[in-house]
Amino acid sequence: MASIAVQPATPADQNRAQSLSRELNLPLLEQGSDLTKQTALQAALHVAGKSLSLRQAGPGAPGPVAVDFGAGTMRHRRRGGNNELLGRAVGVGKKTPLRVLDATAGLARDAFVLADLGCQVHLCERHPVIAALIASGMACALDGEDPWLRDVVSRMRLFTGDARELSDLPAQSDVIYLDPMFPLRDKRAAVKKEMALFQLLLDSAPEAAAQDDLLDWACTQPVARVVQKRPLKAPVVGREPSHCIRGRAVRYDVYVLRSLS
Ligand SMILES: C[S@@+](CC[C@H](N)C(=O)[O-])C[C@H]1O[C@@H](n2cnc3c(N)ncnc32)[C@H](O)[C@@H]1O
Repeated sequence: MASIAVQPATPADQNRAQSLSRELNLPLLEQGSDLTKQTALQAALHVAGKSLSLRQAGPGAPGPVAVDFGAGTMRHRRRGGNNELLGRAVGVGKKTPLRVLDATAGLARDAFVLADLGCQVHLCERHPVIAALIASGMACALDGEDPWLRDVVSRMRLFTGDARELSDLPAQSDVIYLDPMFPLRDKRAAVKKEMALFQLLLDSAPEAAAQDDLLDWACTQPVARVVQKRPLKAPVVGREPSHCIRGRAVRYDVYVLRSLS
């Protein structure tokens, strides 16, 4: 487990930082102490009002990572071609409302896209610090001024824990969506920063080994389809999908278990 502390941005954030440190069972780092000089710590969960960000420690660390649904990149993603492919893969338009269980929520970008496409999304994230980032992103959106953001995020519900142990969620879902970890090819700075975060928080070897288990688990749940996001050229391992939807860098492997309508 990475060594992470909770750090308040200002004295006014001290109480919230304290309660998060208890909740997440992480030590508290003094407000104002310089992260670049920390040697025993790998990262700090930075508390500034409602928003949280994760900042890596040490000299030359990449910039902070946060879940900000109002950011330009999220708005830009909305118009991206991959969204249409993701919507097609899960079956948007075949049933209303379409209930999707995103069993590997991560930084919740795909979940947000799905909610923007009108789906009711249950998000599961098993890493408590990543789940705390999502929860803060959702709280900021719901408290904000933007009616579009509020509307989209009102269709999202977050659960912290292993999706396989939150047993009644599949019965309330039409589709299970999986986006397991995959090796980084993307050289953009923002993506590299997020991957550095995932590598810090998650031990990538067990993560890779668990991918097949998760797909097997998903395909035995009472849902109409399972969709797994994969790198475009990754080999199919284990189950053959019913069909694939291919984008420029990723593909969606679709496992149709029964009709959605
Ligand atoms: C590649 S990230 C997902 C990125 C996400 N699709 C997005 O748009 O930001 C994979 C995430 O799944 C989580 N995860 C993996 N297995 C899980 C499980 N069994 N239950 C819940 N979360 C899981 C990991 O902790 C990690 O945060």
